Amino acid sequence: PKLDPFTTLLELKSGALDPERGTPQVRTQEDLRGFFQVAPEDPDRVVYQVLPMPVPKENSEIQCSTTIIEPGTVGDEYYMTKGHFHAVRDRSEIYLGLSGEGRLILATEDGRYRVEPIREGTINYVPGGWAHRSVNVGDDPLVFFAAYVGDAGQDYATIERDGFPVLIGPGDDGPAVRENPTYPS
Ligand code: PA5
Ligand code: NI
Repeated sequence: PKLDPFTTLLELKSGALDPERGTPQVRTQEDLRGFFQVAPEDPDRVVYQVLPMPVPKENSEIQCSTTIIEPGTVGDEYYMTKGHFHAVRDRSEIYLGLSGEGRLILATEDGRYRVEPIREGTINYVPGGWAHRSVNVGDDPLVFFAAYVGDAGQDYATIERDGFPVLIGPGDDGPAVRENPTYPS
């Protein structure tokens, strides 16, 4: 065997790991420049954090992490992750919702999309070939646990260029999903 077993405590509501197993990755509004439709309004404000549990990036391993997205908006869009295709396109992933209220936007390269719920207890299966972005549509942090094939990697550039087919922001009647006017046809 290449690795020794390990155990980490996951605080189910906050997503905190004890002990931490890697350096949290922090994304500010500035880091998401080009992903939201408008420029950052408060560049240093933290949008989300990813708490990793690093293992070798090999297809024999399972990477996992928790993501904590703060509540908030930039322009007409709720705080969200950058979103990505897996660099190795066919690699799949599972999300387990822990707390808060969110949406998972999934899209294929030919423009098909789905919007799925994320909340305490949801399990989202993200098949290979589907880009995925999570969006916090609530007033509290959105927290979920993710596990994916170790060599999946992330392709952010395609999303930075094209975005997703839909955007999610506050509507008259709760969260509203609308077409992305800049998504290539
Ligand atoms: O593996 C995943 O899909 C998640 O752990 C994401 O990486 C995490 O939610 C952060 O999103 P992104 O990688 O799109 O910035
Ligand atoms: Ni992923």
